[in-house]
Amino acid sequence: MIQQTLVLIKPDGLKKSLTGNILTRLSETKLEIVAAKIIRVSRELAIQHYWHLKESPFFEELIKYIQGELHGRKKVLTMVYYGEDAIKRVRLLAGATNPEEADSISIRGSFGRITTKGIYENVIHCSENEYEAEREIKLWFKPDNIIYDVYETEVKELKNIKTKVWKKNENENK
Ligand code: CMP
Repeated sequence: MIQQTLVLIKPDGLKKSLTGNILTRLSETKLEIVAAKIIRVSRELAIQHYWHLKESPFFEELIKYIQGELHGRKKVLTMVYYGEDAIKRVRLLAGATNPEEADSISIRGSFGRITTKGIYENVIHCSENEYEAEREIKLWFKPDNIIYDVYETEVKELKNIKTKVWKKNENENK
């Protein structure tokens, strides 16, 4: 079944310079990257992403973690992988959520750790199932940032919307 899944390289993965390594591992899936961007994660985005964990005792620490406050790297590399059984294939290489339970050759087993405060610093996030993949991809990406319409889209005309654009050079168009 053709699927899409959200993959985040979390602040600990970036701080440990694991991006190249993780992307190489994920290339074993033979899936296609159809979207990628570096994001500074707002508290609102972090809370929405981990909404289902809001009652857990580690929630506040988890929000600080994904916002990069524990690692001095206030960014996350966020991607959409697309292809046959994408969710299962990525999760297999990622390994179990708890790095100590993850297969030692998996990404989390190789590079994750549990902090003294009990947070699983597991270097990547990947969607758990199709429902979560859709919720997460729609939260992190706009349709225009993904090269295929992986979910149904519609065109809306937005009026009076202010947006940041590149400033023209002074000599341009003279
Ligand atoms: P992730 O795959 O991003 O989804 C939820 C995150 O919460 C998880 O990775 C871990 O970083 C963290 N997490 C999940 N369960 C626990 C737990 N029992 N104790 C501490 N951290 C957890």
